[in-house]
Amino acid sequence: MSEVFSDGNMADVVRIGDRVRKQRGTWWTATECVLNHLEHVGYAWSPRVMDADEDWVELSYVPGRTIEADLSGYRDERWLDIIGRRIREYHDAMEGFRLPKGSETVAWPHQPSGDTIICHNDLSPWNTVVNGDSFTGFIDWDLISHGTREWELAWACWRWAPIYPQGERIPSSAEDQARRCARLLTAYGIDALVLEGFVDLIDTRMRAAVDVVEILGAESVPGFDRLLATGMHLSGHDDRAWLTEHRSTFEHEFAKLS
Ligand SMILES: Nc1ncnc2c1ncn2[C@@H]1O[C@H](COP(=O)(O)OP(=O)(O)OP(=O)(O)O)[C@@H](O)[C@H]1O
Ligand SMILES: [Mg+2]
Repeated sequence: MSEVFSDGNMADVVRIGDRVRKQRGTWWTATECVLNHLEHVGYAWSPRVMDADEDWVELSYVPGRTIEADLSGYRDERWLDIIGRRIREYHDAMEGFRLPKGSETVAWPHQPSGDTIICHNDLSPWNTVVNGDSFTGFIDWDLISHGTREWELAWACWRWAPIYPQGERIPSSAEDQARRCARLLTAYGIDALVLEGFVDLIDTRMRAAVDVVEILGAESVPGFDRLLATGMHLSGHDDRAWLTEHRSTFEHEFAKLS
């Protein structure tokens, strides 16, 4: 049985039975190390590396479907608890892990210093697989890099609140979004986080997401050239403007956490 996935934007992915074949990404060697480490320590929510050659990689199939960017069908706050906990387990599983010397990973622009863990860097609804009511895993580990827990969570809050301008597809107000961020952070466990300046970090994370596509797309890095052509990344500018407009709402909510 074979199925071509059309919900990704960067790579060609095909399912063949209990495996998926994906174009080998630029930083695959580092990704493979991380996925093998996660398998070794028993993290249950990442695909296993089954095979790879110079063009393709084969991963275990994670059963289910990905969640839409607008969280359609998955807006219940219970999901924030699940996602927060699953991210925390992943980060704890990476504690103390180092990539082999000389490993290459994506250079995220504007990333603050600090490299306590390996970040997935795209823990979004569209990289989260669910089977009905069950979470089955995080996929798309191609953009990992050294980073901090807060750097990863800035992205997760952006995508799971989500911090987007309120409108027809995004019914939540800034107040709702701020509360949803707080719920995700609480599920993760704020004991492990430094949240001072977190609104600024979210803003920086949004800026990095736009600029990385501009920079790597212009260099024709596979995947990023496709993203640049879609122009999808430019919505990050609108998200930044929305965050700036409602900055005090987010700050107020985060202040309650400390
Ligand atoms: N291990 C897996 N198990 C199940 N489905 C998968 C797996 N890997 C990929 N897929 C499916 O293929 C799609 C595209 O894969 P993936 O997210 O890895 O690629 P991408 O093009 O880099 O995506 P993105 O646009 O998020 O950057 C996913 O949205 C999912 O539907
Ligand atoms: Mg994806």
